[in-house]
Amino acid sequence: MHALGSVPFGCTSCQGLTAPLPPRTRVRMTHRFSQRLDVVQPSATLAVSARAAALRAQGRTIYPFGVGEPDFDTPIHIRDAAKKALDAGATRYTAVTGTPELKKAIAASSAARRGAPCAPEQVVVGVGAKHSLFNLALALYEPGDEVICPAPYWVSYPEQVRLVGATAVCPETREEDGWLLTPETLQASLSPQTKAVILCTPSNPTGSAYGEKSLRALLEVLEAHDCWLVVDEIYADLVYDGFKQVSALTLAHRDGMKIRDRILVIDGVSKSYAMTGWRIGWSITPPAMAKALDVVQSQSTTNPAAVAQAAAVAALTGPQESIEAMRLRFAARRTRMVAGLGAIPGIRCRAPEGAFYAFADFRALLGKKAKNGPLTDDLAIATFLLEEAGCAAVPGSAFGAPGYLRFSYATSEENIDAGLAAAKAAVEKLG
Ligand SMILES: Cc1ncc(COP(=O)(O)O)c(C=O)c1O
Repeated sequence: MHALGSVPFGCTSCQGLTAPLPPRTRVRMTHRFSQRLDVVQPSATLAVSARAAALRAQGRTIYPFGVGEPDFDTPIHIRDAAKKALDAGATRYTAVTGTPELKKAIAASSAARRGAPCAPEQVVVGVGAKHSLFNLALALYEPGDEVICPAPYWVSYPEQVRLVGATAVCPETREEDGWLLTPETLQASLSPQTKAVILCTPSNPTGSAYGEKSLRALLEVLEAHDCWLVVDEIYADLVYDGFKQVSALTLAHRDGMKIRDRILVIDGVSKSYAMTGWRIGWSITPPAMAKALDVVQSQSTTNPAAVAQAAAVAALTGPQESIEAMRLRFAARRTRMVAGLGAIPGIRCRAPEGAFYAFADFRALLGKKAKNGPLTDDLAIATFLLEEAGCAAVPGSAFGAPGYLRFSYATSEENIDAGLAAAKAAVEKLG
């Protein structure tokens, strides 16, 4: 038993014994945050960039390998369209799920890209793809549900699942398998409680992507299991070395699979069009699900900014050459990044198929002695690289893969060369 007024939140031994609580205690309770936050971690990727920003503010040169956004400007024709839209009155509320023009443009672009029919009624435009994923979490997952997020996962998948009270199940994938979930591991992870499986292809953080064969094998497993498949295809335009990107929706439609009505696509303009700050992403789902998402979003953000929606229309319907130009730049940087990481003594890095991340194995540094103490885990290694070489990379444990580090190559070739040279020099000095 605790003294009245100091009941710890969630103390089961006190429940029912202290009611009704005196008014003072009730006031104190208002200072406590909701229990659902107890299970959620703040974004580790943002934590690294915050520390990097602090060092930069002290005048240090910092190589920004931490944050995942293109360093290019939004193409000029998109910015011009936004300016025109503002003057034409894109300053008011729009329909919650997006303007008719944008939903039409998304539906047409999805149908062309994925070879599967897509009606505007299936589209719900959110404030970035992360928000669209969160809408899905709110609409779908509840306590008792399990959601499969293969590790290494993008940090927000399991956290969003937990935030809504469901359980994230994170089976490990292996570097030897190209970080791909195998049908056997998927099968073993499924249970009657499985509500959804989330796949990210190409992946943040590993850059790996499912080819047709590996993706179809997973669809076959899910064909027999009544759950949703969420596919995050936000990096679909960014694949390299001739890799053939394929959507689960394409395969399921082409092959007449039942699962085609249980596939929920997440996409957006942030990465392909260098539009992270505009905050436009979307989901493509069966119409009944889109209606549920409409309800969720109508009680939170209402619509994404009208002007950003107009910009996204310009992105999807205007010239597409900028995507290829950026992709070629990323391809060149990827080559440099993978080679540079591989040149650091003991470090291995597989060439990723897509996105703009290299996921490198730093386990060889574990136990080495740095100036500030022994490198006991990947967080210590990331801190060492940040403090000693100015390299801001993200520890793999944030993504469920301890011992690895994620390096974003959405930065200049000069930064990649200089940052990795500094990292190599720092590692060579280790005891
Ligand atoms: C895999 C993945 N999905 C979704 C997002 C979120 O994109 P947006 O900026 O559109 O919210 C990101 C951003 O880093 C991502 O890496």
